[in-house]
Amino acid sequence: MNLAGNTVLITGGGSGIGWAIAERFLKAGSNVVICGRRVEKLQEAQQQYPQLRTRACDLADEADRVALFEWVKSEVPQLNVLVNNAGIQRRLHLANDEQAQDWSGHRQEIATNLDAPIHLATLFIPLLREQQHPAIINVSSGLAFTPAAFAPVYSATKAALHSFTLSLRHQLALTGIQVIEIIPPAVNTDLGGAGLHTQGVPLNEFTDSVMQRVAAGELEVGYGTSEERRNASRQELDAFFKKMNAS
Ligand SMILES: NC(=O)c1ccc[n+]([C@@H]2O[C@H](COP(=O)([O-])OP(=O)(O)OC[C@H]3O[C@@H](n4cnc5c(N)ncnc54)[C@H](OP(=O)(O)O)[C@@H]3O)[C@@H](O)[C@H]2O)c1
Repeated sequence: MNLAGNTVLITGGGSGIGWAIAERFLKAGSNVVICGRRVEKLQEAQQQYPQLRTRACDLADEADRVALFEWVKSEVPQLNVLVNNAGIQRRLHLANDEQAQDWSGHRQEIATNLDAPIHLATLFIPLLREQQHPAIINVSSGLAFTPAAFAPVYSATKAALHSFTLSLRHQLALTGIQVIEIIPPAVNTDLGGAGLHTQGVPLNEFTDSVMQRVAAGELEVGYGTSEERRNASRQELDAFFKKMNAS
């Protein structure tokens, strides 16, 4: 896809990977809308790029997702790209009763990482169909291919998002809506809390690489170990899972 000339909504665009993607679209000459829960993050972003539009929303909340869509339809009806990027990651152990019984925590993670991208995609398809060069970009994870046992619910949501993306691409093939998946490996952001991803690859290197490949027309794009896992055999995935979860 051409990174220029679009009007793009990026969920979770106020920080991390979403913000890095927002900057690539802005610098290429697209209009960008970002959304997230923390108003101060949205304001900081807007100070840097006054042309940016922002919308506070909690995507774990079904009514907020519908309200976001209605707002876009009336305020930014030319929107042609939806980037489902927002996500949370909780580290928990299911043999720990207190953590295992925290259903509202599990529900929040599933709602943010899986309900929201599925719901937003289905809400936006009719609007996107009316546009030139429409696209949906889902941000999944290398953990879709080899779960991290320390984040069992998170890993499951990402495997499900990968699966949904394959079906969505197949079903929308004749509508003109491109369905793209970005599959990050561990990237140095504040995902899960500050300091938990400092071992990850540098944010700008990762984002430059994946967005160049998206611009070149690739539909499924990983980086480093997530690119390896995306292309791995079952045997290689099992070996990677064992190594990753050894300790
Ligand atoms: N960093 C990695 O190692 C890594 C690896 C694989 C995949 N990913 C995926 O990449 C995506 C971006 O993560 P990141 O690494 O950039 O972490 P991040 O900096 O924590 O970004 C997550 C973004 O999602 C937003 N968000 C979370 N819950 C939300 C909600 N209920 N409603 C609206 N917005 C919400 C956050 O904004 P507010 O807090 O202001 O709402 C934040 O801007 C996620 O889907 C993540 O799973 C990251």
